[in-house]
Amino acid sequence: MEKIVIGNWKMNPLSEKEARSLVTKTKKISAQLKKTAVVLCPPALYISPLAKERYGKRISLGAQDGYFMPTGAVTGSISTDMLKQYKVSHVIVGHSERRAAGETDDHVAKKIDAALKLGVTPILCIGERERDIEGTYLSFLKKQLHAALVHVSKKQLEDIIIAYEPVWAIGKSARQAMSPHQVHETVLLIRKILTEKFGGEAAKKSKIIYGGSVEESNAAELMEAGHVSGFLVGHTSLVPEKFKAIISAVEDSEARHA
Ligand code: PGA
Repeated sequence: MEKIVIGNWKMNPLSEKEARSLVTKTKKISAQLKKTAVVLCPPALYISPLAKERYGKRISLGAQDGYFMPTGAVTGSISTDMLKQYKVSHVIVGHSERRAAGETDDHVAKKIDAALKLGVTPILCIGERERDIEGTYLSFLKKQLHAALVHVSKKQLEDIIIAYEPVWAIGKSARQAMSPHQVHETVLLIRKILTEKFGGEAAKKSKIIYGGSVEESNAAELMEAGHVSGFLVGHTSLVPEKFKAIISAVEDSEARHA
């Protein structure tokens, strides 16, 4: 299974010039990769100019969100249909920062469905706000997954990337990220939920990645002991030397996913 590193630039950088420079540097980093794909998700405004660049086999553009209707009266939104015209191969759906801004489970499910029909790979983000000792987060994750995948068939499951991002670990530092052991436990839980819904074969094939303060210092360990297929990286994807170290850790990891 091909591994993947997704750079979620969020609302950065400030200028198109800086965005171009980040793309150039990340393309260089990705040129030698054999087992890992890199996807850069810039702010939507930069997608059109960045789509004019040449991309290699291992690097492509993604979007941070994509609306499910192709066109319509949805002020401020951009549809996945529109994004697809600009070489966008992946779209992030249900990021916690969008959910906090009002994104509903219903819209998450519809956005995944629309992306799949267009041949754009959805990156579904799920994750609990906090880890309580009673374990409420377990049923929370199950509910979130079921709600998001309501329109998805067994066959389509392998075309989705599931990004497990515990909200409490986002935007911090490697020290405050989730421990590899906890990541592994949660990956097993997600696969169990997928097995119950889609059967073991389909669940085994699904790609689960981790996001939340992945940095150059914790990437290798999270890959090996977390048993994930890659990462969704926020702040560190804006620093090419550090992002390079994360990509190399993924490329070099021998771990099989859980
Ligand atoms: P972070 O963000 O790497 O800055 O924690 C990850 C994300 O929100 O996707």
